[in-house]
Amino acid sequence: MRPELLIDTDPGIDDALAILMAHANANVAGLAIAGGNVGLAHTTRNALKLVETIGAETPVFPGCASPLVVAAPDAGFVHGADGFGDTGYFNASRLPEEEHAANAIVRLARERPGELTLVALAPLTNLALAVRLDPTLPSRVARLVVMGGAVTGRGNTHHVAAEFNIGFDPEAAHVVFSAWPAFDLVDWEACLRHTFDFDWFEATLAGGDARARFYDAISRKTRAFNRMRGRPGVVAADALAMAVALDPGIVSEAETRHVAVEMTGALTRGATVVDWEGRLGATPNARIVVAVDQGRFEALVAGALGAAR
Ligand code: BDR
Ligand code: CA
Repeated sequence: MRPELLIDTDPGIDDALAILMAHANANVAGLAIAGGNVGLAHTTRNALKLVETIGAETPVFPGCASPLVVAAPDAGFVHGADGFGDTGYFNASRLPEEEHAANAIVRLARERPGELTLVALAPLTNLALAVRLDPTLPSRVARLVVMGGAVTGRGNTHHVAAEFNIGFDPEAAHVVFSAWPAFDLVDWEACLRHTFDFDWFEATLAGGDARARFYDAISRKTRAFNRMRGRPGVVAADALAMAVALDPGIVSEAETRHVAVEMTGALTRGATVVDWEGRLGATPNARIVVAVDQGRFEALVAGALGAAR
């Protein structure tokens, strides 16, 4: 049976790969869009373009343009100023929905109680609003999978312990992590352990279909950035989270712990603080994904690009 997904996202290169994987393997109820990697106008436009490229009818719900409390720098230097590698693509002909992403999340979860897996691939701003609008939201969805955090402090932002999605809007992450009794957390450090070999990824793109050609074009700058930063391979954080959402059995190692978000630290704002030894007595809220089956992960990615593994 195909999973039923509702995706909160800020496309974004790795978001794009995750969204391709979702449409290849699941039914997608909607894309809730946030500002994050780049501004909301770009992330919305990118989502619409991707849905059109896939040939899907998935509704796109624009949501929050900025963090709840404190403005934060975007990640255009990684994803391109337009978030999709500055390829100058033509706009999709389809339009976004009128309904705000947070309202759409609340409505869809109420219409389909217990059915949807929420996949959060962006700063958690929309989801924080949604759970404040409807505090029963966690009980109305089947699962929540979050891409975010750096569980031993090896982040990817200028607040060195913070990962981008959490660091961009720590207050929103605090709201979500405090409200959700149990969620899967795919952190940045797991993503660094599950990169794709550069040559394998390029061969996969070359062997794929129209989706691969689009992805090849938009991801060129980011792949060059990965090489330039000396990454072990292509990092696709949101794709790893999507693999966990699509195929829960892909997780080969996990640790369930309480995770909180630092909001005030001068050096550590946006850090995810894991109570590894249970000293605080708080009930664990996060299943932290430590490792997945890399072969199954690569098969999901190759399939989404129309290539053989
Ligand atoms: C996360 O931040 C964004 O830049 C990516 O799209 C991903 O969601 C990785 O830290
Ligand atoms: Ca993202």
